[in-house]
Amino acid sequence: KKIALAYSGGLDTSIIIPWLKEHYGNPEIVGVCVNVGQQEDWDAMEEKAHASGASKLYIIDAREEFARDYLWPMLRAGAIYEGKYLLGTSIARPLQAKKQVEVALKEGADAVAHGCTGKGNDQVRFELTYKALAPQLQIIAPWRLWDIRSREQAIDYAQKHNIPIGNISKKNIYSRDWNIWHMSHEGGILENTWNRPENDMFQLTKSPKDAPDQETELTIEFEKGFPVGINGQKKAPLVLLEELNRIAGENGVGRTDLVETRLVGMKSRGVYETPAGTVLYKALRELEMITMDFDTLGLKNSMALRYADIVYAGKWFTHFRESMDAYMEQATRYCTGSVRLVLYKGGVTVVGRKSPYSLYLEDLASFGESAYDHRDATGFINLYGLSTGVQAIVHEKRNQL
Ligand code: ARG
Ligand code: SIN
Repeated sequence: KKIALAYSGGLDTSIIIPWLKEHYGNPEIVGVCVNVGQQEDWDAMEEKAHASGASKLYIIDAREEFARDYLWPMLRAGAIYEGKYLLGTSIARPLQAKKQVEVALKEGADAVAHGCTGKGNDQVRFELTYKALAPQLQIIAPWRLWDIRSREQAIDYAQKHNIPIGNISKKNIYSRDWNIWHMSHEGGILENTWNRPENDMFQLTKSPKDAPDQETELTIEFEKGFPVGINGQKKAPLVLLEELNRIAGENGVGRTDLVETRLVGMKSRGVYETPAGTVLYKALRELEMITMDFDTLGLKNSMALRYADIVYAGKWFTHFRESMDAYMEQATRYCTGSVRLVLYKGGVTVVGRKSPYSLYLEDLASFGESAYDHRDATGFINLYGLSTGVQAIVHEKRNQL
């Protein structure tokens, strides 16, 4: 038997290796770690995987693919879950699971395993992807099978099986997830929704209070709904994100503290840092407002809600998502142009926008002379208000009866 395990190098995925060996007849374990922009000591991770009993560790650099094929479409769709969450973890899981499936098939594995708990969203996202791409593979979710219930128990299990755990401490620190789009923080003191996050928890953004006293002005260029440059310079997706993360993070931009509704129904507290994403969402929205007509934009905005819900739910590899992307692609065909922004102490302010396809015509909107004939408005309002007028007469009569 051979099992492909989604491996992160953390405590949970480390102890899963001996646990699988113990419970599935000493199978070969192949680890798969997908680099989506989290910073790790990759050599140390490989050593650790071997020391924990894995026969191999695949480390797959999927950063460019993540940005281009996952983050960009999600951004273009304007997907924001429950009005606040920019979906940084949700969008990474399908790609990580897809890479894991690819390894499983190449290695001839019979099963895939992951270290998500039975309480969260991530288990659903991993498993919906397995089912979409390789339904024949057996799925093993140790957290739903074993008796380990706490961090302390996990550490004890590791020590009993000689699994290196490095300097992991027994006290309950944050559960974090990190990629090029965001870092999430959950658990620890955040479990009390009234507790204010400690400043040293944040990793990608400065506190607005420590951000520079000067404004940072920048422009972002878009083509057909995708970001393509900063300050007039063309950038590939990954470089653009790295650079914008640095600029926005430095200015304290991108922190969000929220309580979200998990798929399994429970409310959960999370604090997120999404520096570049926060700027990009705001900028694209602005460009849409000068390049898109009311109806196309209106439908796009309502579909964005559905889009966010399915990304959160892990339904990435679905005909529904592809169909929505087809609409998004068509709808943003003219979203090409530039947005001018000011970042200052945690805030992002749009101060200008332009596009070769701008639907804003200065002479039409201005209050001076133009081709617009004020007299046309009389007939327009007469017809536009026809139904209103009819109802007024009919209802008035009825009230007199
Ligand atoms: N609550 C967020 C989400 O569902 C973040 C989950 C973070 N996952 C983790 N294993 N730390 O997308
Ligand atoms: C987990 O429970 O495995 C992480 C949190 C989540 O999936 O929502």
